[in-house]
Amino acid sequence: MAKLKVKAARSTYRCDACGHVESKWMGRCPACQQWNSLIEEVTAAPAGRAAAVAISAGGAPVAVTEVAEIDAGDRTACAIGEVDRVLGGGLVPGSLVLLGGEPGIGKSTLLVQALAGIARRHGDRKVLYATGEESVAQTALRARRVGAAPANLILVAETDVDRVLTIARDLQPAVLAVDSIQTAYTAALDSIPGAVAQVRESAGRLMQFAKTTATPTLLVGHVTKDGGLAGPKTLEHLVDVVLSFEGDGSGAYRILRAHKNRFGSTQEIGVFEMRGAGLAEVLDPSAHLLAERPAGAPGSVVVASADGNRPLLVEIQALVAPPAAGIGRRTAAGVDGNRVALLLAVLAQRAGCDVLSQDVFVNVAGGVRLTEPAIDLGIACALASSARGRAVDAKTIVFGEVGLAGEVRAVPLADARLAEARKLGFTRAIIPVQNQARLEGAPGLELVAVDRLAAALGAL
Ligand code: TYD
Ligand code: MG
Repeated sequence: MAKLKVKAARSTYRCDACGHVESKWMGRCPACQQWNSLIEEVTAAPAGRAAAVAISAGGAPVAVTEVAEIDAGDRTACAIGEVDRVLGGGLVPGSLVLLGGEPGIGKSTLLVQALAGIARRHGDRKVLYATGEESVAQTALRARRVGAAPANLILVAETDVDRVLTIARDLQPAVLAVDSIQTAYTAALDSIPGAVAQVRESAGRLMQFAKTTATPTLLVGHVTKDGGLAGPKTLEHLVDVVLSFEGDGSGAYRILRAHKNRFGSTQEIGVFEMRGAGLAEVLDPSAHLLAERPAGAPGSVVVASADGNRPLLVEIQALVAPPAAGIGRRTAAGVDGNRVALLLAVLAQRAGCDVLSQDVFVNVAGGVRLTEPAIDLGIACALASSARGRAVDAKTIVFGEVGLAGEVRAVPLADARLAEARKLGFTRAIIPVQNQARLEGAPGLELVAVDRLAAALGAL
């Protein structure tokens, strides 16, 4: 009886939408009528709350100038330049970092390489890698294969987060990593591993450990294609840094981005190539991405994109063909399909280029995904080039946002884009008029400033 009582008092269920608390799980919140919103919680203050207390320890008011700065020396660098740059110079003591990405993209590979780098730099400390996805043997095999197996990198196959923390308190590692947060669970909750409640509570406990021991802690989280899945999304507000590892899965290139970083810029990206022996940094991504460009082929245009602060020259390929079946089909890889549809309409209505009834394929070479509007002009030019069967000069780059009226609008970082293009031997750039006026230095290549899409097509 007594035991039953303890069990009954262990968990409560809180509505995610309105905060209403029930003693047992229900499919629908009786207070706000929301379906599936009750989430299990430990009756005692959840770890997240305890961690909040740890952060505000003492709580005494202090002048902003009196607070010691986090200096570079405090950060733990992992010796992979591309990772450290995205982190803002390395891992900050006590920070909780979430590394998200689709299954199979290479998160565990990146993690073990980064952990090995840290272990080598801190030979007197241990680095703890808790894996819930693979056995110790599998993890060790991979680590050796990618040359990431120093003796002070300690592996443990454990999904019980409380046991991981006991081991971590004992080892006092320089860094703790948990792969993945979806497999982590605490016996304090009845929910199964992977449930929102477990993911949240486990992350809360890890955060408490990170903050109270000043140990940088890394969590791996799987994200599905639609960005869903219980886990990463519910953790984003909790953690200090959210990194995402992206690529198209088939292409060899991977991009590491910071979506949130309490200790650095979210403008940096890191570029990697997945090789037989793990992930290799790509220090000159533009040159790599352009290496296989076909010469003199219509539909190929190089755009100077700037994802983050880092300019990246990428080839956009378009193929416009007579429709295979009655109505035109549209396929876009690496760029937003809606954006392509919009540009097709603008091309047809404002630039006299009949592409609406055709089959249209747009692809970004190298499996890179581009999201900024500055690539609009490049997509439109590639489409027009393919539709008219006329190749674009191979030494010309393009950037600019295209508006619905067919106008070409200015974009940020024009100087950086032009500098990258010059570095790679391009001689001509088609850019928005408004950008030309604001250039800071001599671009070192011939500029064609355009105000309308039709003018850009003419210049090509
Ligand atoms: P992995 O790190 O296990 O992905 P995740 O943890 O994100 O699920 O890596 C997945 C893929 O990477 C795997 O399908 C094979 C490939 N890979 C290589 O090509 N080379 C390598 O050296 C390694 C370790 C993996
Ligand atoms: Mg993995």
